[in-house]
Amino acid sequence: MIDRPRRLRRTQALRDLVAETHIPASCLVQPHFVVADDGADVPIPSLPGIARMGLDPLLKRVERDLEAGVRQVLLFAVTDDKDGAGSTGEDPEAPAHRAIRALRSKFGEDLTVIADVCLCTYTDHGHCGLIENGQVVNDATLPLLARQSVSLAEAGADMIAPSDMMDGRVAAIRAGLDEAGFEDRAIMSYAAKFASSFYGPFREAADSAPKDAGPKDRKSYQMDLRNGVEAVREALLDEAEGADILMVKPALAYLDIIRDVSQAVDRPVAAYLVSGEYAAVELLAREGLANRADIVREHLFSVRRAGADVLITYHARAALEERWI
Ligand code: PBG
Repeated sequence: MIDRPRRLRRTQALRDLVAETHIPASCLVQPHFVVADDGADVPIPSLPGIARMGLDPLLKRVERDLEAGVRQVLLFAVTDDKDGAGSTGEDPEAPAHRAIRALRSKFGEDLTVIADVCLCTYTDHGHCGLIENGQVVNDATLPLLARQSVSLAEAGADMIAPSDMMDGRVAAIRAGLDEAGFEDRAIMSYAAKFASSFYGPFREAADSAPKDAGPKDRKSYQMDLRNGVEAVREALLDEAEGADILMVKPALAYLDIIRDVSQAVDRPVAAYLVSGEYAAVELLAREGLANRADIVREHLFSVRRAGADVLITYHARAALEERWI
């Protein structure tokens, strides 16, 4: 036998020497749920280990995370101030906006602040766009997304991450940002976002599930899980509209999509290991059915191997603090 792959697997050092895939700390993004009450630090039952935080705990948390090497955060606002048009999304005193200003002034350029843009956390019906005649309408939603993006850029966001899946929103947001003088702010679009059942814990955390009025699910705007060719088309459209980073979401059941998109586009690709993927790991670990560190490591490397440059994961902090990767 001439070729014996096992020769390079004999010791840990040899395995490290020939490892094909690496995950630098710089590519991890930690999501946070921000609320209005500055002192709040309320655990989210559906997401063990994650809390809805007000400014004070958030600033402390981010400071510790930065020490562990987490340099990117993705912010979601959680609020009771909801209406049909999600107007709180443009309010400079809304939780995300206040958090961004505070993070910016405390950490400056050491921290990259990414702001999720969507209506669902701000609308009383829980949909990601305006509702007219029982339907989620596209074009009328675009100016609202653009205005929300500008308001978040004004607060100091480095990057705008639209997660609504309306057609043409990247172009509308790019134009809005440029017009307001924010041509230097990047857009990370949720380009191929699937209508997935893995968002359940998030919707509880962000209070953003579709309510009684309007369609019962998001299938008229998020992608059908059977489609891969269309995912590449979505990514190419967003690239052409000016997105700087293209995201695939969820990650683990969509590794083929991450691979296809990363080969098709000329931009960095992000993958979002979503709330249901996180919660599944936590439940396995809690039941003693798997070792948390080992399965998180396996998940993160699979997503990286598939071609993701940026990994958004609720496990970012633990992965670095506890040296899982
Ligand atoms: C809002 C949004 C969702 C997620 C990110 N932004 C939920 C949804 O589309 O219902 C999901 C994130 C997660 O599950 O971790 N549009």
